[in-house]
Amino acid sequence: MKRLLFTTLALAFASTLAAVETVWLDTLDLQSLHQSWGHPQINRSMREKPLTIAGQVYERGLGTHATSTFRILLNRGTERFTASVGLDDAAGTDGSVVFQVLADGKRVYSSGAMKRGQAAKLVDVDLRGVRTLQLLVTDAGDGITNDHGNWADARFTVSGAKPIAYVVPPEAPYLLTPKAGPAPRINGPLVYGARPGHPFLYRIPTQGTRPMMFVAAGLPATLKLDPTTGIITGLTPPRGEYALTLTAKNGAGQATRPLKLVSGDTLSLTPQMGWNHWYAHYNRVTDVMMREAADILLRTGMAEVGYDYVNIDDCWMNAEADAKRKPDPLRIGPFRDAAGRLRPNQHFPDMKGLADYIHARGLKAGLYTSPGPKTCAGFAGAYQHEADDARLFAEWGFDFLKYDWCTYGTLVTKPTPLDEMQKPYRLMGDLLRQQPRDMVFNLCQYGMGDVWQWGAEIGGQSWRTAGDLGFELDRIFEVALKNIEHRDWQKPGAWNDPDYLQIGYVGNARGEGLPEPCNLTPTEQYSFMSLWSLMSSPLFFSGDLAKLDDFTLNVLCNPDVIAVNQDPLGQCARVVKLDDEVFLLVKDLADGTKAVGLCNAREAPVTVTAKWTDVGVSGKQAVRDLWRQKELGTFATEFKSEVRRRGVVMIKVGAP
Ligand code: GAL
Repeated sequence: MKRLLFTTLALAFASTLAAVETVWLDTLDLQSLHQSWGHPQINRSMREKPLTIAGQVYERGLGTHATSTFRILLNRGTERFTASVGLDDAAGTDGSVVFQVLADGKRVYSSGAMKRGQAAKLVDVDLRGVRTLQLLVTDAGDGITNDHGNWADARFTVSGAKPIAYVVPPEAPYLLTPKAGPAPRINGPLVYGARPGHPFLYRIPTQGTRPMMFVAAGLPATLKLDPTTGIITGLTPPRGEYALTLTAKNGAGQATRPLKLVSGDTLSLTPQMGWNHWYAHYNRVTDVMMREAADILLRTGMAEVGYDYVNIDDCWMNAEADAKRKPDPLRIGPFRDAAGRLRPNQHFPDMKGLADYIHARGLKAGLYTSPGPKTCAGFAGAYQHEADDARLFAEWGFDFLKYDWCTYGTLVTKPTPLDEMQKPYRLMGDLLRQQPRDMVFNLCQYGMGDVWQWGAEIGGQSWRTAGDLGFELDRIFEVALKNIEHRDWQKPGAWNDPDYLQIGYVGNARGEGLPEPCNLTPTEQYSFMSLWSLMSSPLFFSGDLAKLDDFTLNVLCNPDVIAVNQDPLGQCARVVKLDDEVFLLVKDLADGTKAVGLCNAREAPVTVTAKWTDVGVSGKQAVRDLWRQKELGTFATEFKSEVRRRGVVMIKVGAP
């Protein structure tokens, strides 16, 4: 008996021993490794040389580029992951990255910021019982230039199921937003700010069959409404608050909605909405494209739910001939004329005409420049011509300026003291305020110097809180959570901007290639819109308008969801963490109800519970499904819902 037991144990031990094996990271299928630049390299660096960290050469491993994400299914079969990580010696000097390992969504390793020449750090993590693993290389907060991160000598010690690269399950598009009916539905903000005595333009966003008749009761004498288009123009009345009642009527019915017009100093009392060309067309943008964009906003109904800015990004000015960047010849030319006046390139023959065209449709026009001598894409910047340029933009009739940082960085000391960092924005902020028209000011300096703390004070209405989101599209949940960290600084007229809605057809974030379907699943695209709405983030769609399909319009154009974004309180939702990758977003609304997002950042569906104690309400509560625009009944203590992989269920809690 004893002998039998011994033999059995010995056999079991031997089979355990035999089962432990090494699986090298570089043998996994790399199709699902997403990175912001180039392709992952097997057993060599991004520069196609031997993997080398601080002089040490490694035979095996992966050469990747930040931002990179590699999701791996372990299915509880792996015991350890070990690797030596660091920046490759062949990268330029200014790279810096952070290596992270996430086990079932929980961070189990972070290298901290690493620079080139720094000795490799050893990763050694216990992964027993873990289902999914993520290997991340992030940009350490300073952009992705030269971020060649190596996972050298990277291997799994496996005793059960072998690790396999995770491939996102395909998902067919589905429509949540009900079709708008024929009767009028007035959308748009409930409160609108403008500066006294300036030109006023507001188009009442209204769904429903045309023709339609509009009435605006309480309209001050300085303004007039075109009753057939619903466009209000004139001059903003003297300082004060004006309670308007808007009515729209057609053969199918009538709708009424209040609008509080606040004539004062604060613009953008609700987050800006519109379209920006960048992530669809990059340096291919033309005047024709911008005019078409205005028409498409009207034709598709996007304008009827509130998208009203039509914004040109970089590349509308001239560039110098450049053998490396090879700008389009029609975009090469002198930056300014003899009098110092900025010259748009040949694709923009008539900037005033373009702004007029957009205004004639009741929409607003925006443009972009940089405080440096050149913009990020190498076009003329505003440096030393700030006053001329601000005046010119106002003269042309633009309503919005996005002000980047690029090339200004070459003019300042490093590390840059806060006042030097603020200087160009303070200057442009003052200049814009001096113009005889309302010009919204968006600071695009990626969150430097904690811009959310001072962006409003120097005249901004919104500021980017991070680098380009195009490089991190598969991390929208993580990007949102990071943006929410600055929620206390956000208020009406002062918005944190986590970058544009990049859904539908978008181009590669490096500006190469024509727009293609983005690599977010339909659920992730709904999540994008849900998160941005719950955060009260500016809603700029930056995909290809010419390729809008029913699905993308369905995501962009749900007035109930947009109403959460445009809520007059302007609150950014707070996070209630339920586990590492599951959380609630809870946002107070002006009518006393709460908007709640049941958020699942996991790779698998999960049931999420919104307990009333977490939401901050008690007693019976009415619940409305905001995407489906459907009342779900009343619930005594909590609301529970299955949430798809990387999905958000958005509800409104409490009777209005
Ligand atoms: C980046 C900016 C992008 C885009 C680009 C233009 O710095 O973050 O949103 O404007 O410049 O070159």
